[in-house]
Amino acid sequence: MMNTPDSDQTDSIVLTVRSADHTLRLPLSADTSVRQALDTTELRVRAACGGMGSCGACLIQIVSGEFNPPTLAERQKLLPEDLAIGMRLACQLHGRGAGELYLDNPAPHSEWKSLDTSQLYRAGTNNTIDQYIYGIAVDLGTTHIRLSLWNRQTGRRIGTRYSINPQVAHGADVLTRLSVEQQAADENKLIGEEARKAIIAGIRDILSRDMGEVSTILAEIGSVLIVGNTAMLMLICGNDTASLHQPENWQLPIPCQPNDIDAWRKHWRMPHAEITIVQPLAGFIGSDLLADLIATNIIDQPLPVVLADFGTNTEIAIWDGQTLWTTSVPGGPAFEGVGMRNGLTAENGAICKVSKSDNNWHLQTIGGTIARGFCASGFIDAMALLVEAKLLKPSGRFAEPQPPNGYLLDSGNLHSAIFASDVDIFQRAKGSTAAAMAQLLTLAGLTLSHIDTLWICGSFGQHLDLHSAFKVGLLPSIDPDRIRILANASLAGCEKMLLTTDRDFQLNTILERARTINLGGLLDYENRFVDNLRLQPWSTDNA
Ligand code: FES
Repeated sequence: MMNTPDSDQTDSIVLTVRSADHTLRLPLSADTSVRQALDTTELRVRAACGGMGSCGACLIQIVSGEFNPPTLAERQKLLPEDLAIGMRLACQLHGRGAGELYLDNPAPHSEWKSLDTSQLYRAGTNNTIDQYIYGIAVDLGTTHIRLSLWNRQTGRRIGTRYSINPQVAHGADVLTRLSVEQQAADENKLIGEEARKAIIAGIRDILSRDMGEVSTILAEIGSVLIVGNTAMLMLICGNDTASLHQPENWQLPIPCQPNDIDAWRKHWRMPHAEITIVQPLAGFIGSDLLADLIATNIIDQPLPVVLADFGTNTEIAIWDGQTLWTTSVPGGPAFEGVGMRNGLTAENGAICKVSKSDNNWHLQTIGGTIARGFCASGFIDAMALLVEAKLLKPSGRFAEPQPPNGYLLDSGNLHSAIFASDVDIFQRAKGSTAAAMAQLLTLAGLTLSHIDTLWICGSFGQHLDLHSAFKVGLLPSIDPDRIRILANASLAGCEKMLLTTDRDFQLNTILERARTINLGGLLDYENRFVDNLRLQPWSTDNA
């Protein structure tokens, strides 16, 4: 058994970065600076200028390897004797091959990391905005909060951040969090405030590191746009969530509006910000799905399209050219890694890919560090391989009774163990997702052969091996060329709405075509769910 670095970026080199208490394997593509790459990890350099080379804070030392020659900014900021011993500015530094760096004085620990922006929105200039030019897009997810700060006038994204939603402490999934809120009404306010505090902490992290100013820029923010699932939006607004417990409301529009918006502005120190909650489609379908649909332009497509946003709630939409069929099903913690015995989000140390040769398991972790658990993609690989090796039956039962420590893929690492209870959680999540997709296809009068594109949204898709997903029946076995992955689709759609002048038109166009389906009462769905629990490829009877 061995751990290898996450090498998804095939065109990238891998650097080793050390500090007093960290060693990190850092994939680095040619157009990414060392600072940008480190900003996606927990080992960040100090910074206060957004990588312009003007603050001089992001010092790092070359130990070995070949890098670009010092830039003009570095020659102005650093003494010749510093350059002679390999001191460089991380924001100016690009690798040209494997190498090693030492970071003597990292930034203080932060929960916030930067996102890969390659799949986010690209905006043009907008000269109609001449004051309060900054805007913020927020995707308030059940497990993570993702946000970005924009100069709306120039169409420049200043920074992105993501972190765990602190509300996770009140329950990994939506229902648990809502039941906490129901048990103690005061919790409602508290849970909402936690999300609000987290959002402003993320914004401040961008401002301090990427602009070097906080208070003055906060006062120049003119717009904050928030998308999320209905429950998270109601909680952040401090709305009574009792209606979400009643199935008759699941298909109805549910208003999510804060009644203390001035207090938000005061708390966030943004006196001029228009704070907008993009209204959810229904009680069980949030505005995060609307943002996905806007990011992917689905309803502009002439041919049928399926979109699935995997998460603690998996939201699914099928566009048949005229009607947008939408639903959501509980994914539980299986697709977000939170709540399983060895579950992790896609973070350093998470097993993101698993392969097997003869009797040897090969575990690939994000960051190439010691395995600390599985993120969804690694778990799905493991499921597919265990079934293929007949160690796990398609029913989800292990062929042999398992020891209390679970089935270990690495005998020396307890975090590599798979438990029967985790398999069961995964089966339920994938069973409900596959059944929901099949049911919507039937309602739309479509079969898989009609589908032009299958969009996989959510960070779940980032490391997903499609063939493993096919083998365990999570996804229909269609031509991989027809599958497109957009990891941060909800944030990308929120950004697009923040930057465009016809947001209402875009939203209304979707709402007019949307039809929400509550699968709960359909006998067909129950049968499909049971059929899809087995760890095997989609049956042709599905659709
Ligand atoms: S000089 Fe590198 S971030 Fe400021």
